[in-house]
Amino acid sequence: MKQRIRYGGLPGATLLGLLKKRTVAGDWWKGSSQNVYYTHKGRCGLGFLCKRWNLAAGDEVLAPAYNCGTEIDPFVHYGCTVAFYRIDQNAVIDLSDLIRRVTPRTKAIYVTHYFGWPQDLALLKEFCREKHIYLIEDCALSLFSDPKDCPMGHFGDAVIYSLPKTLPVPDGGALAIKEQLHEDLFTEKPPSSAIGKKMLSLLKRAVLRFSDRIGLFPFLPMRLIQSRDDGDAAPITPSGLPEMPKTYYYNHRIENMGPSRITRFILRHIDPVEIVRRHRENFSFLSKTVAPVPLFNPLYADLPDGVCPLYMPVKVESRREVCSRLNAMGIAAMEWWAGFHRGFDWAEFPDARYLKEHVLAIPIHYQLHRKDMDYISACLQSLANFVGGDPQ
Ligand SMILES: Cc1ncc(COP(=O)(O)O)c(C=O)c1O
Repeated sequence: MKQRIRYGGLPGATLLGLLKKRTVAGDWWKGSSQNVYYTHKGRCGLGFLCKRWNLAAGDEVLAPAYNCGTEIDPFVHYGCTVAFYRIDQNAVIDLSDLIRRVTPRTKAIYVTHYFGWPQDLALLKEFCREKHIYLIEDCALSLFSDPKDCPMGHFGDAVIYSLPKTLPVPDGGALAIKEQLHEDLFTEKPPSSAIGKKMLSLLKRAVLRFSDRIGLFPFLPMRLIQSRDDGDAAPITPSGLPEMPKTYYYNHRIENMGPSRITRFILRHIDPVEIVRRHRENFSFLSKTVAPVPLFNPLYADLPDGVCPLYMPVKVESRREVCSRLNAMGIAAMEWWAGFHRGFDWAEFPDARYLKEHVLAIPIHYQLHRKDMDYISACLQSLANFVGGDPQ
């Protein structure tokens, strides 16, 4: 069903921001001990690692059972055996389960820092060093997070990032790696039609935001208003789960592509300090709303120093209904990672499956202002008595 979405889950283009400030994109990389290479998408870095480290048939990659699927598929594409390890219902790595699954064929361990919160990798890093296993850190959801007490993006032999999840860019990922690589990597240009399409949707979000600010939103023609289309039901995987979208599977043709010129341009006008400040402020504000409402079980109760939250993730029993209601109120809440990779079976991982079926992501990004957060907060409170049917 089409919905009038007023409060998007992602930032839109920011024309004023582009005029305002000029920074050097490279300056804001916290993993300064690593070499950083911009890519067209985060997954390009993973395909590249498979080739660089000769990860292929016969090799095993251990990956978290709570995953999007996009980050797993490059390894599948290159013929590796991907085995899952347990993530608990708080989205924390079960280290003893992980270690138990290591075999002589394990060549890489993949860890994901979810929504900006760090996994504690101090022991795992030592383990990987002793066993000569590559450690890959996924910071796709954690750009700009730099918690002092629990470093992230520093331990991995390689780290990947996905820029459009945090920034108003049409494409872009980054690979941070300890090795020094040739500068002529990732030089192919991404297709301009795809970038154009993404730019249109960024501009549309900017128009919506601006119209809302000056009170014109209700007068916008319906066809201009960003909409979400639930579309047809997802296909079912061989293990009977709804499948992730086709575009999440790896397409090796993008592997050598770098980011578009427009992304490179926008990156030079980004102010990470301000982005982190606002994400934290919005998260803290919503936390107070959500805490007293039993319907919402926050995935993270605390906001440690240095964490840049990407969304406000909450576990909700009747996720589909709650999400539709919030969408109908104009809030782009998302059923996070609802689709499953068709090559895997989650029977052994009920906790990860629980997260995939219950986590709802509520937008808190930096372009949402106090007025927007007041509205989102009021909508969340209005669902306080929702128990899977109508509010009681
Ligand atoms: C956890 C995680 N890692 C990696 C990726 C891949 O990022 P990209 O879409 O930029 O290739 C995604 C994308 O959704 C993701 O959610």
